[in-house]
Amino acid sequence: MSSIINKLDKNKIPKHIAMIMDGNGRWAKEQGKNRIFGHQQGVETVRKMVEVCPRIGVEYLTLYAFSTENWSRPKFEVNALMELLVNSLRKEIKKLHENNVRIHAIGCIDDLPKKAQKKLAESAELTKNNTGLNLILALSYSAQWDIVNATKLIAGQVKSGILDIEDVTKERFSSYLSTRNFPNPELLIRTSGERRISNYLLWELAYAEFYFTNTHWPAFTEESLYEAIFDYQNRERRFGKTSEQITQ
Ligand code: FPP
Repeated sequence: MSSIINKLDKNKIPKHIAMIMDGNGRWAKEQGKNRIFGHQQGVETVRKMVEVCPRIGVEYLTLYAFSTENWSRPKFEVNALMELLVNSLRKEIKKLHENNVRIHAIGCIDDLPKKAQKKLAESAELTKNNTGLNLILALSYSAQWDIVNATKLIAGQVKSGILDIEDVTKERFSSYLSTRNFPNPELLIRTSGERRISNYLLWELAYAEFYFTNTHWPAFTEESLYEAIFDYQNRERRFGKTSEQITQ
């Protein structure tokens, strides 16, 4: 472990990392356990990431905890995930607050069970003045939902004359998304071998580096995170320019 962390450039730590926490079910199956056990172990990985990220200088961590599409999973699994969310917040909120973590939620939060909405609102309120890691939970979230929602808001304001159509720039558009208060992620990590972004932060990931690993989420460790950041640091981020322009 110590060797890989020593290889990281402390001045090139991504400020914002987005994660797709995939493979809980497959990991559990490999252990001869049920899927819910996989999600429970997944929460342990979340806890680890929340502890490690601020220590190395990551300021924003966005986790895809429940997608719009996840509603079509079997009802008992949806219920178990919602219970896990509420129970984890209940158990961890004091420690998160002591550790200066600020909790945010993005997505169609109104769709969540009332208990989850209440716990999220309480957690956000309690931690609103914290200045450490911003932990952003994407819940009942999909990027297409967010983009359509932003478009409706903009169209409404144009129609009522509050907004001039000429003023709809990409910066203005961003300000209608649920991610408006956060910088764009520089790094996306997806565990468990799939190489797709599954309707996650489509707008915000425009220039992010993508890192895919075969490791399942419950088995993703502190060292796995350092490997992802090391890989990211060895990419050349050109933002559409040439290599020569970047190195000048
Ligand atoms: C994907 O694995 C994982 C999810 C859909 C849920 C992730 C949620 C957690 C880790 C708990 C979140 C809790 C908090 C407190 C943030 P999968 O079930 O799709 O795995 P599979 O692809 O192997 O079936």
